[in-house]
Amino acid sequence: MPKVSYELPDGTVHDVEVPCGQSVMDGSVRNNLPGIVAECGGSCSCATCHVFLEEGGSCFDEPTDEERELLEFAEGARPSSRLSCQLILTDACVGVRVTVPDTNG
Ligand code: FES
Repeated sequence: MPKVSYELPDGTVHDVEVPCGQSVMDGSVRNNLPGIVAECGGSCSCATCHVFLEEGGSCFDEPTDEERELLEFAEGARPSSRLSCQLILTDACVGVRVTVPDTNG
């Protein structure tokens, strides 16, 4: 099962196994990690699941136009910004690491 490393706003790092077909957002919410609010439940319309994709991102699809537009308005967005509900894990995902900003709430 793919593993995702979440660096939280308090600086702690949590390694979580996330089943294929679930998103990086799902892995956080299902393990009660703080920082990814996911207000819209994963339908790409709230941007409260914003993360910085630091490593292992080549297994994910490129962002859609919808995701790009939402990220334009995300506080503190950087080139590595993604909406974690759009990052769906597959067997090809190895060494995925994300940083969770403290601006999602
Ligand atoms: S959970 Fe709302 S955009 Fe990702």
